[in-house]
Amino acid sequence: MSANRLAQLQQALDERAAQQLLRTPVTLQQYNGRLLTVAGRHFINFCGNDYLGLATAPQVLQAFADGAMQLGAGSSGSPMVTGQHTVHQQLCDSLCDWLDVERVLLFSSGFAANQAMLLTLSNKNDSLLLDKLSHASLIDAALHSDATLKRFAHNDVTALHALLSQVKQPMVVTEGVFSMDGDSPDLPAMLKLCQQFNAPLLLDDAHGLGVLGPQGRGAAAAQGVTQQQLYCTMANFGKALGVGGAFLAGSKTVIDYIEQFGRHYIYSTALPPALCAAVLKSVALCRSESWRRDKLQSNIALFRHLATDLPLLNSQTAIQGLVLGSSQRAVAASVQLKQAGIWLSAIRPPTVPQGSARLRITLSAQHTEQDIHQLVQQLRQLV
Ligand SMILES: Cc1ncc(COP(=O)(O)O)c(C=O)c1O
Repeated sequence: MSANRLAQLQQALDERAAQQLLRTPVTLQQYNGRLLTVAGRHFINFCGNDYLGLATAPQVLQAFADGAMQLGAGSSGSPMVTGQHTVHQQLCDSLCDWLDVERVLLFSSGFAANQAMLLTLSNKNDSLLLDKLSHASLIDAALHSDATLKRFAHNDVTALHALLSQVKQPMVVTEGVFSMDGDSPDLPAMLKLCQQFNAPLLLDDAHGLGVLGPQGRGAAAAQGVTQQQLYCTMANFGKALGVGGAFLAGSKTVIDYIEQFGRHYIYSTALPPALCAAVLKSVALCRSESWRRDKLQSNIALFRHLATDLPLLNSQTAIQGLVLGSSQRAVAASVQLKQAGIWLSAIRPPTVPQGSARLRITLSAQHTEQDIHQLVQQLRQLV
């Protein structure tokens, strides 16, 4: 019996390998924000999410170290059982102040927070309307919920309108910046539609928080949409804020409800207090050091300017996609770039739709102009 099961697993692994879809974890020896070291070789990193360089900011590292010394490395239990540290509350207060939202709840990852958001807030009479390119964590959450899942064409307000007219109790879910394409929905237009159909709008702003809007308040703020107009927002600490973990934000009622009924919150160990101390510092730097966003914007503009002849996806954000089609082509391109000292992993199905394997270039405030010139020169040779 178990030999049979193992053979089935091995067969699935072999099939993935034959399709060039096997993911191979790489051990990094060092990471300093811009460069990473693998097997003694240095590479310029163009596939991380440390958009503002906060993952290695000395003040954040110091806050982490001080937090560990003063508060301990781990939280030792669920916040509902063991309780939470002052620093958890300080972080929540700081997020509420930054985003102008009533309440937030901390989670160990964005994946868990998205599960809690969709599973807890929807019920069997609801229809969850998700964008076709939604992140896996949203799709899985919707599939595991009691609600009915329906998908609309990517960022297509007309398609959303058609779906809204068909279903009884819609809830609309979208992302501030799509993780593989780097584009954003028209949030004011979506909000207007949602108001027309009395549908709550839920936002995953993993790639917008810190980067977009005044003081980095995220994609909604950048488009003039307030947190009060959204039903619930998920954003994480592991992207622009450079640390790890996530939060849900919303009205007191919505967050109180998730706190009481959200199984991913209740039955999970609270974030390590030292990590919260680091995120707290990171939020402060993110708000006050707008030069980080300015540098990122100028790097994005330089990249787009130098790469006008490359078939890039239409994105003005730090995520720039170069679709190559087959997985073989994307993997070969990635290998070639590594030979030239550029770390840029191939993104293949099922992460992206079949036939759209790509290089997903992510820019950071840490990159120099020279890095970007070098990248574009190498990409041009590939295309
Ligand atoms: C759009 C989006 N949502 C959610 C997540 C999950 O966040 P985390 O990595 O904190 O689990 C990610 C990150 O992979 C993401 O890109």
